Amino acid sequence: MHKIAVIPGDGTGPEVVREGLKVLDAASKKFGFKYETQTFDFGGERYLKTGEILPDSAVPDLRKFEAIFLGAIGHPDVKPGILEQGILLKLRFSLDQYINLRPVKLYNADFCPLKGKNPEDIDFVVVRENSEGLYKGLGEFQKKGTKDEVAIQISHNTRAGVERCIRYAFEFARKRNKRKQLTLCGKTNVLTFAWDLWQRIFNEVAKEYTDIKTDYAHVDATTMWFVKNPEWFDVIVTDNMFGDIITDLGAMIQGGMGIAAGGNINPKGVSMFEPIGGSAPKYTGKNVINPLAAICALGMLLENIGEKIAAKAIEDAVIKIVGTKLKSLAAGKMGYGTAEVGDLVVKYL
Ligand code: IPM
Ligand code: MN
Repeated sequence: MHKIAVIPGDGTGPEVVREGLKVLDAASKKFGFKYETQTFDFGGERYLKTGEILPDSAVPDLRKFEAIFLGAIGHPDVKPGILEQGILLKLRFSLDQYINLRPVKLYNADFCPLKGKNPEDIDFVVVRENSEGLYKGLGEFQKKGTKDEVAIQISHNTRAGVERCIRYAFEFARKRNKRKQLTLCGKTNVLTFAWDLWQRIFNEVAKEYTDIKTDYAHVDATTMWFVKNPEWFDVIVTDNMFGDIITDLGAMIQGGMGIAAGGNINPKGVSMFEPIGGSAPKYTGKNVINPLAAICALGMLLENIGEKIAAKAIEDAVIKIVGTKLKSLAAGKMGYGTAEVGDLVVKYL
């Protein structure tokens, strides 16, 4: 019996999670696995009602599950940052989900904004460090409010933190078994402390993985190549901030936020899977948001808990629908409503 925690969250989160759960239910019947879910109401509504961002019991409670399925966090009536830091980042850090795994895969050339790029050209995975760097929240104001004010934001990189991320990426490139190529994406020419450490550890660990080709790209050049030559990439490993930025670009070249999914992974603990677009408040409750990103996140969750056949079937169904049914992947333009897209996935499962 798989135990899955569900956090529908804010905005369109609950709508896309509903479609994910619809697919989960269908997949369990079709592939014969059993599961139970428990829903947690963390998010903006709860915070506005009770003033509590995340109860103390949340982390110990969530630890009892095999995985977490998350919709979206972010509410228009709550100051930006409070919920993101207090819920999303808090969970990533407390559950030590030190990898943010973000596949970038184009399913239909018609939905790619790049001219002349086909599904075989856009198929790579970003391994984003998910527990350190600028996200550590270290820094200070000096002389706040004066004309001499200084704001310092520190990128905090530990040898242990960087090494476990890089090792994960090498293992991942090996298991993925595509081009067996791992690119370190950094900024060694300017950020000479952080990226010196990253580069040194990358080179050290690479010696243990002689079957994996390695290369290095500066983060700015990486964004250029995402647009110009995305076919160059197989697996990319990078820090938290750069990973955040390049995966939004990655999402766009794979067809947009409507399809982009990610996993916050603790290889030995509880991982959390989410569509990477936000809560999209303006589309809330209109049955127009694309649930495929959430459905793909659910597929990643199933893969993570060992239901690999079901995960593959979900991806195949998504490929089918994106290839033959949807007019667009954008909210309100799919030619179907949110719930109908969920029904289509179930139908093609
Ligand atoms: C993401 C998001 C988050 C991040 C925000 C909401 C804190 O942009 O998952 O990429 O920066 O990691
Ligand atoms: Mn982001």
